[in-house]
Amino acid sequence: MTHRKILVAPSILAADFSCLEAEIHRAEEAGADWLHLDIMDGHFVDNISFGPAVVATVRKHTKLPLDVHLMIERADHYLPRFLEAGANSITLHVEPEAKHDVAQTLAAIRAAGCGAGLTLNPATPFEAIEPYLAKIDLLLVMTVHPGFGGQAFRPEMMEKVKRARDWREAQQATLHIEVDGGINAETAKLSVENGANILVAGTTIFRTDDYARAIADLRGE
Ligand code: DX5
Ligand code: ZN
Repeated sequence: MTHRKILVAPSILAADFSCLEAEIHRAEEAGADWLHLDIMDGHFVDNISFGPAVVATVRKHTKLPLDVHLMIERADHYLPRFLEAGANSITLHVEPEAKHDVAQTLAAIRAAGCGAGLTLNPATPFEAIEPYLAKIDLLLVMTVHPGFGGQAFRPEMMEKVKRARDWREAQQATLHIEVDGGINAETAKLSVENGANILVAGTTIFRTDDYARAIADLRGE
């Protein structure tokens, strides 16, 4: 059993965009470890969020690692802009609908000295990411169908978290296992019990009055 520090990554998708700088500072002061930035293009997912200019703006206001989750087609084409904007880790979708060569895009992220992550939709089997496990820093297990905040957590995704944890233990690898979607104190506990060590949360943090309390609750403190 590996004991790791649990990292909390607030997703700014649920923040108040009219005062984003203040929201970032509140999250930082409340104990956020990373910030999670959800990039949606209206094609790969049925929603549009924000792009590299907003990532660069966030970068100016925090030293926290920026964890960029690309829910877009042709991540290879847009990658240089997100690297330039100051991402510390970039996570790609493995589904064919993302329209890129996964191995090549991962290699390009690595070559830029950025953390490389891979993720899969709830409907995508674990086998789809298995060939890449040794080549990534982070596996993001989507616990909702991507596109919108505020959805209900899918407990059946814990099977994928467990399989990743078993792989990590067998290989003695440093792989981060991150969960994203519907994370609250209860589902965070379940995720950590199954092997997750990074918790993404939007609604649970930004739609409450006390971000520090929300983050402590996620860590089970
Ligand atoms: C969903 C995004 C999530 C989302 C999580 O497509 O990838 O990061 O912001 O939101 P909550 O925590 O509200 O489920
Ligand atoms: Zn996300």
